[in-house]
Amino acid sequence: MKEQIDQIRTEAAGFDITSADKLEQYRLRFLSKKGLVSELFEAFRSVSGEEKKLYGKELNFLKQEVEGRWQAQKEALESTAVTENSGIDLSRPPQPRELGSRHPLSLVRQEIIRFFEGLGFNISEGHEIVDDWHNFGALNFDNDHPARDMQDTFFVQTHPDILLRTHTSTVQVKEMQLGNLPIRTISPGRVYRNETVSARSHMQFHQVEGLYIDENVSFADLKQTLYLFATEFFGRDLKVRFRASYFPFTEPSAEMDVSCFICNQEGCSVCKHTGWVEILGCGMVDPNVLENCGIDSKKYTGYAFGMGIERMTMLKYQMRDIRLFYENDLRFLKQFKSEI
Ligand code: PHE
Repeated sequence: MKEQIDQIRTEAAGFDITSADKLEQYRLRFLSKKGLVSELFEAFRSVSGEEKKLYGKELNFLKQEVEGRWQAQKEALESTAVTENSGIDLSRPPQPRELGSRHPLSLVRQEIIRFFEGLGFNISEGHEIVDDWHNFGALNFDNDHPARDMQDTFFVQTHPDILLRTHTSTVQVKEMQLGNLPIRTISPGRVYRNETVSARSHMQFHQVEGLYIDENVSFADLKQTLYLFATEFFGRDLKVRFRASYFPFTEPSAEMDVSCFICNQEGCSVCKHTGWVEILGCGMVDPNVLENCGIDSKKYTGYAFGMGIERMTMLKYQMRDIRLFYENDLRFLKQFKSEI
């Protein structure tokens, strides 16, 4: 018995298995029903009890060994088959892949969104093509209101009532109409104005507007929120100031300036030597607007604010030409890397 076991072991170990055919021959010779190992098991049945004790274990080992080699060779052959058939050399190092970078406007939009999300604001979006009522009417712009001229508008020629939104306040109208109070939402999006393209202005740009409506919302809430935002966004301890201003949909209205962080208020071209840079418009939502959108203005008050993403980005990265955002010049875009 021992001799036979050794013999088969040596033969199996030396068997050349370099192809699928050979592998099959190996299986037939050793592992099939009529193979050598099976035959030895057959013979083992009729050996004496003493021999059984002596060689039982060894016989089992032999079987495991022979089967093990078959399995290992089978897997090895299969994996080389995949490589050969597909013509792919899996051992080659990969081609380095060049990763793109996010557009600076996306980065800054995301940063603004994250800040307000952290305060519990949700995000709302709307259409870029809207009717006059959503862009102007609901927001307290009378038909002949001169403020309509503040925002030069692109109208649809065949439907003068339909236009490209000039601000994302349109989304706030929609949210107020939905009326799930309290409302705490920010609306990022693209807006259009019929302006000559220059280094400072474009006929399309992006805004983020915020709206908070609840009982007892005050101007102090607005100031504190925007102050926190500005210091966080520009990453330093800035001074802020609110200047009285006018928007048809807010009363009182203000514009917010931050101390010029480029020249430390010493005077430079960015702050036009005033030491202050304007960053956004804001105010308390006019009661008329609340009523236009079906909200009880005796019970609820709210604040709103709006800022241009391009402007915020230009200030943050000290850019001087808004057109760079839309030219897809890789030399410009590649400078903005992010972990987002
Ligand atoms: N909608 C205004 C604009 O586009 C910005 C603004 C929003 C001002 C909300 C006040 C309150 O200029």
